Amino acid sequence: MASRKLISQTWAIILILSSFLIFLLFTLYHGMKLPTHKAYSTKQKIVPDCSMYSIEVNSRTLPQQKMSSDLPSLIILLWTWPSGHTFPLNQCPASIDSSNCLFTVDRSLYSVANAVVFHHRDVSGSKSLLAQEPRPPHQYWIWFSLESPSNIRNLSVVDNIMNLTMSYRVDSDIFMPYGRLAKLDKQYDFTIPEKTALVAWLISNWNLKHKRLEYYKELKKHIQIDIYGKHHLPLPSELKFLNLAKYKFYLAFENSIHEDYITEKLWTNSFLIGTVPVVMGPPRKNYERFIPPDSFIHVEDFSSAKELASYLLSLDKDDQKYQRYFNWKSNYQVVKMRSIFETAYCKVCKALKEAPSYRTIPSIAEWFK
Ligand SMILES: *[C@@H]1O[C@H](CO)[C@@H](O)[C@H](O)[C@H]1NC(C)=O
Ligand SMILES: *[C@@H]1O[C@H](CO)[C@@H](O)[C@H](O)[C@H]1NC(C)=O
Repeated sequence: MASRKLISQTWAIILILSSFLIFLLFTLYHGMKLPTHKAYSTKQKIVPDCSMYSIEVNSRTLPQQKMSSDLPSLIILLWTWPSGHTFPLNQCPASIDSSNCLFTVDRSLYSVANAVVFHHRDVSGSKSLLAQEPRPPHQYWIWFSLESPSNIRNLSVVDNIMNLTMSYRVDSDIFMPYGRLAKLDKQYDFTIPEKTALVAWLISNWNLKHKRLEYYKELKKHIQIDIYGKHHLPLPSELKFLNLAKYKFYLAFENSIHEDYITEKLWTNSFLIGTVPVVMGPPRKNYERFIPPDSFIHVEDFSSAKELASYLLSLDKDDQKYQRYFNWKSNYQVVKMRSIFETAYCKVCKALKEAPSYRTIPSIAEWFK
């Protein structure tokens, strides 16, 4: 008797549970179907059916395959356009998994967003620049900076509120380097651009406090350096590649020295354009994490600027030795990006899918130095 009663009770429970599940899936399907990608374009402000989204937001465990793949299941809100730079949203390159993600700058979606990305520069002025409404449960706040610690302020503004980090640092939750190399499938014959000049430096931020200026002043006593940029030789952007390519060496001097802080000075102005970078930045070992040891010259390899200058002059007279700095080009190529900001945000999608269900960062300043 008792066991029959138990069985019928079990059946009743199963019945109730499955009707609830069917109801849930039905509502979810119809609710999710209405707002399409287009309806959420940033131009039209459409108030979302929040109740529907909150079901999804609050239950990331619901089987994803139940939803057709063109329905966004993760909403990623860009709190600001980073430093005012705009770019097309929801057009991520195929190489970055952005399936089921919807990117938006529409703050009216805050309460249903799965993640909000805060670009540090745009919120560092005061805490009041951050979202003020209560944070929906399970929403990730992502701290984003491509600037080095020396170039940003007020990191304490973001203490105890962020869940993930995105920066050029390898140990960020979302690693966004200024560039990277991809191994080529087969060897490639690279032709070094024709060289008619020696050393170039493109610099817009002429700051006497920077270590690089001191070094430059010493270096130029021993070797001719052509300087482009604000207050110096003009370099229209359309001529940049052509003009810099004729130089044998490029001074890829970073504006500040921090772990992993290796910028477009190396990636674009040297590697892409086809000059040999003379780098000033983190230690040689740090560069070698990202690029071949024989692809660059580090100021640290020399005990003085004078010694570096005489090395460069000796390379100038020894074509074979100079050309060895391009050997890596037959095995690797520089990966080109449409825009570093666009690429960064696109990466958030996959990172969210893989994020720990709970994480908090007491102090960004403690880590980002
Ligand atoms: C840092 O915070 C102070 C006080 O909130 C503010 O006045 C200042 O503008 C901020 N600095 C930057 C660079 O955002
Ligand atoms: C994010 O961090 C905040 C502040 O520590 C915390 O309240 C929240 O639960 C965290 N969210 C996630 C998804 O880890």
